Amino acid sequence: MSYDSRYCRETIDEYATNIDSVIGNLFKAMAKSLKLAENSFSKQFGERPIMQGRFVLYPTCTRPDQVFGVKPHSDGSGVTVLLQDKEVQGLQVLKEDQWLKVPIIPHALFVNLGDQMQILSNGAFKSPIHRVVTNREREKMSVVMFKKPEPEKEIEPVDQLVDEKRPRLYKKVKNYSTLHYECFQKGLFLDKVREVIIKFFELPIEEKQRHGKAAVAKEGYGLDSLVTEKQVIDWSDRLSVLIYPEDQRDLKLWPEKPQDFRETIEEYAMNIDSVVSILFKAMAKSLKLEESSFSKQFGDRSVMQGRFILYPTCTRPDQVFGVKPHSDGSGVTVLLQDKEVQGLQVLKDDQWLTVPVIPHALFVNLGDQMQIMSNGVFKSPFHRVVTNREREKITVAMFKRPDPEKEIEPVDQLVDEKRPRLYKKVKNYAALNYECFQKGLVPLDTVKI
Ligand SMILES: [Fe+2]
Repeated sequence: MSYDSRYCRETIDEYATNIDSVIGNLFKAMAKSLKLAENSFSKQFGERPIMQGRFVLYPTCTRPDQVFGVKPHSDGSGVTVLLQDKEVQGLQVLKEDQWLKVPIIPHALFVNLGDQMQILSNGAFKSPIHRVVTNREREKMSVVMFKKPEPEKEIEPVDQLVDEKRPRLYKKVKNYSTLHYECFQKGLFLDKVREVIIKFFELPIEEKQRHGKAAVAKEGYGLDSLVTEKQVIDWSDRLSVLIYPEDQRDLKLWPEKPQDFRETIEEYAMNIDSVVSILFKAMAKSLKLEESSFSKQFGDRSVMQGRFILYPTCTRPDQVFGVKPHSDGSGVTVLLQDKEVQGLQVLKDDQWLTVPVIPHALFVNLGDQMQIMSNGVFKSPFHRVVTNREREKITVAMFKRPDPEKEIEPVDQLVDEKRPRLYKKVKNYAALNYECFQKGLVPLDTVKI
């Protein structure tokens, strides 16, 4: 062993010992700040907690606009203690949709709370999304210490942090770090979904048109059908396929190239479907309704439609929309946005807000049918997609709709004297929506009482 490497080991060992005692004090202080017993957090880390060191060099990068040092994520640790570069910034934390730069304070440590602290504190402490941006001129280094509970020990929200006002948010969990890693892999799966879509749009036009849609059909490859002369066509290239109910799939319209298209989209759709069912339960609970209040209106043969869209670059983004302003006719729409290029905007208080790009997150938009079922409590917002002069972008949209044979209506418990019933019973709203869209009418207006 050379003198240097021994010195390195000793230094890191000493540093880790010090960080460990800082963390010990921190856990006590955090517990006290919530009026808990001092050891409320530390005891859940167990007798044999883990400390992992990561030593990172971020080299200079010629395309800091395209490449992250670390892509947006939250930490799977309990806490993370960072010794940042003495001179070069790069770490950013997401707060209220804004990326805030973490300042450099040369002789200070930066502590970031991880997901497991959010679980232990039943959400009182947050595990923020953060990222590291790259730098064209200067490299930077970072020393990261992750403190994690013993993997064999179950962790859960501290009892005293669970009460009527703050119900229990998280289940018991063991070895969360592995789960966190698996989810990271699922993030890679989202990249795979994007990749098959990009490959499809790169195919020669003749190949894509093999899955072309008939003039008035809503499925297949191609644009909206032209129903009226005044209709404004969107600046996009797209493919639509019905995914569920499975027996209604028209496989002629499902691309065979790239060869992993079908299985990738099928797996993705299955996952989205289960996300949506959890969402329906959570939305019902949030209004103090029976869990199945929304899902039962969707029925056993609810529809899921996938739409895969390429928005090409456009020389006149001031004049042309990727998608013109509209609200969705679905129940809910789950969007996997482009990883880098923004474009979706939502209308709120007469302002068009740009939806940020969070590469491994899904964006959920509520559609008109959810507004109807919730008697107007949940809103189906107007949104649009703007075009971009320099960069094309892709989007994967999954529309979840009730069974077209089933009537939907506002949930009974959401109708009372203070909130009279706003909408009529309606069946196959998607068809109505499509007609209104072509004619430039507002479909929700046509079902108002
Ligand atoms: Fe939409």
